[in-house]
Amino acid sequence: MPAKRLAGLSASVFTEMDNLKKTLEQEGKSLINLSIGSPDRAPAEELRQILSQAVLEETQYGYTLTRGTGEFRQACARWYQERFEVSLDPDSEVLPLMGSQDGLAHIFLAYINPGDLAFIPDPGYPIYSAGLLLAGGEKVPLPLEEKNNYLPDLQAINPELARRAKLMFLNYPNNPTAAVAPLSFFEDVVEFAKTYDLLICHDAAYSELAFEGYRPVSFLQARGAKDVGIEFHSVSKTYNLAGVRLGFAVGKAEVIGTLSQLKSNIDYGVFGPILRMGAAALSLPQSSIDENRRAYQRRRDLLVEGCARAGWKMPLPQGSMFIWAQVPTKQDSRSFARELAREAGVIVVPGVAFGDYGEGYVRIAMVQDEGVLKEAVRRIQDYLQGRLIQS
Ligand SMILES: Cc1ncc(COP(=O)(O)O)c(C=O)c1O
Repeated sequence: MPAKRLAGLSASVFTEMDNLKKTLEQEGKSLINLSIGSPDRAPAEELRQILSQAVLEETQYGYTLTRGTGEFRQACARWYQERFEVSLDPDSEVLPLMGSQDGLAHIFLAYINPGDLAFIPDPGYPIYSAGLLLAGGEKVPLPLEEKNNYLPDLQAINPELARRAKLMFLNYPNNPTAAVAPLSFFEDVVEFAKTYDLLICHDAAYSELAFEGYRPVSFLQARGAKDVGIEFHSVSKTYNLAGVRLGFAVGKAEVIGTLSQLKSNIDYGVFGPILRMGAAALSLPQSSIDENRRAYQRRRDLLVEGCARAGWKMPLPQGSMFIWAQVPTKQDSRSFARELAREAGVIVVPGVAFGDYGEGYVRIAMVQDEGVLKEAVRRIQDYLQGRLIQS
């Protein structure tokens, strides 16, 4: 029998959509998958060269251990300074991760005792709830609502719960809502964390995917942030390196040290060549990822404008690789997504998969090239004819 702690883990809506996809594939239906946030674009040739050269070196095959190489940690610190004007000590305030997911999952084991409370965004990226559950903690949902630009309303939080809670997760640019956060919000979060003695964990996996010149801020730019929390970054989305599994955590030294201590009991570090490529990626000029941003922006415009022509209005996201759109028919998000898959062959994720507050929405991932997206728009337009709420 598997351990009881696995019981709450089954992400039923994701599994359900996955099963539907398999069934439709078996039926020979042509499907366009806009569900998973896995980048489809290639990493820079230069980075692939660095990786392949490093892989041929005999000396690259030992354990790098949890702290990884100084070269990688220093590259993270330099990148932070240049990008956010935040200085970090590469030895005590930076930790390499096997993808940011590694840190997002393990931070709960490092800080949560059974029964401890943690604030988790709803809708939210599922690993936060899963990590908390595996550590035996209890979730206090932090509603993200359109009327508040998908920022949690800190004033509305019950002070008693805030006093009892140990940790708060945040994520901007946000998955799934694609919302972004201003620095003033993070300043309020720091005050809140100080008042209630909370550890803040900010997931900034999409910090470099933003459009029309907008550059998301770092949580660590807020005054005092390093006293109360850490931030997680990923090279997956920024450099199209999702499969190599590399990310890093930065911030409060004590927390970075605790996460490192936990991880040193679990893994032996990231493969050396990957760390070397990661250091090279972070050392590229910031303009090297402009084309990536423009590609996502073109995809965003194509989808949003195409769906609007069919009468389905959705907001233009400022960041992330997602569009968060209201269900345009009278169905709930699950029935709509199922029907869109069956009838139009377009796979999106029902908002309810990310939490109760996601009901009424779907998440569309911009992970196909423009040709495929044009076909997706055509199919959506055909499907929506006569089905829209206003019709
Ligand atoms: C919000 C968010 N955080 C973290 C991750 C995980 O990224 P990584 O590949 O660095 O583990 C994802 C992946 O989709 C994500 O959407």
